[in-house]
Amino acid sequence: MAQIGTNTQLAKEFLEAGNVVGIPTETVYGLAGNAFNLDAVLKIFQVKNRPSFDPLIIHTDSLEKLDQFVTDIPEPAQKLAEVYWPGPLTLLLPKRDLIPDLVTAGLPSVAVRIPNHPLTLDLLRSLDFPLAAPSANPFGYISPTTAQHVADQLGDQIPYILDGGPAGVGIESTIVGFENNQATVFRLGGMALEQIEQVVGPVSVQTHSTSNPKAPGMLSSHYAPRKPLILVAAGHTPEPNERAGALVFREPFGGISTDHQRILSPTGDLNEAAKNLFAHLRALDTLPIDIIYAEPLPNQGLGWAMNDRLRRASVH
Ligand code: TXA
Ligand code: MG
Repeated sequence: MAQIGTNTQLAKEFLEAGNVVGIPTETVYGLAGNAFNLDAVLKIFQVKNRPSFDPLIIHTDSLEKLDQFVTDIPEPAQKLAEVYWPGPLTLLLPKRDLIPDLVTAGLPSVAVRIPNHPLTLDLLRSLDFPLAAPSANPFGYISPTTAQHVADQLGDQIPYILDGGPAGVGIESTIVGFENNQATVFRLGGMALEQIEQVVGPVSVQTHSTSNPKAPGMLSSHYAPRKPLILVAAGHTPEPNERAGALVFREPFGGISTDHQRILSPTGDLNEAAKNLFAHLRALDTLPIDIIYAEPLPNQGLGWAMNDRLRRASVH
């Protein structure tokens, strides 16, 4: 069973020996390995039971190191990085040969970000390689936002989980790619669209392709609890049902036991809601209910990304 602790030196030793470890970030916990070590990268795919066509994000600690991994940084990427890194933003950039093809699933671009978490930044600074890290959940399940979530599902397969407390943002990073100096969002996430547009102007959002997706996080059936989840139409209330649970924004639904409901933010704060989203879904998944109703969130700030995750988690 994985040891849980705050010892970055121990995490470093495991990583240098080619092991994979759980790491905290501000978005969700990652399952990290040496991005330059093929065996470590293979282990990541095995532990997650992740198909090899789904590429990984690499994590580093400084803009200076970026040149080691990528051949070019388009101007809008440079601006976004300067303003928002460290932060919940992943940039797709043309990769150098040094990055194994397994990391990018054969794609010519590599996904990179600088995560905003003090323990993980300390760890990254101490290493002479970047960390490839997908979210530390079994493929297709809800991402973990605490060390305990990681231990519950992957604890018997990894030696160590670095515990950085509950994730402060709570939803995966926003993924942005560039073509002809034009930014496109491929995954809605913890950095709000409005913030990206403030820096680079209007962006297009391409998160709905179904076949051969650029970012497989775009696949529906991703981020799902085990219980069927129904996304309720905005302004509607589900039929009374003793065997139902609900994930609601500010107030419980009538007709469903309040013991079976989880409120994302009583004050209507979308950032607080995002922080609670995955932990509440996990909690609902363990209740004696047959179905989870979810209330859609307002389409602003992190509400877009949360609605995206709820849509993908829903049966449709
Ligand atoms: O917040 C996050 O991004 C977390 C933390 C741990 O950093 N990581 C995360 O990784 O969510 P993962 O593997 O669960 O999701 C990464 C997404 C996948 O949907 C993958 O397809 C996409 O990034 N991706 C990775 N490399 C890509 C590339 N070269 N081109 C397009 N999409 C890419
Ligand atoms: Mg994931």
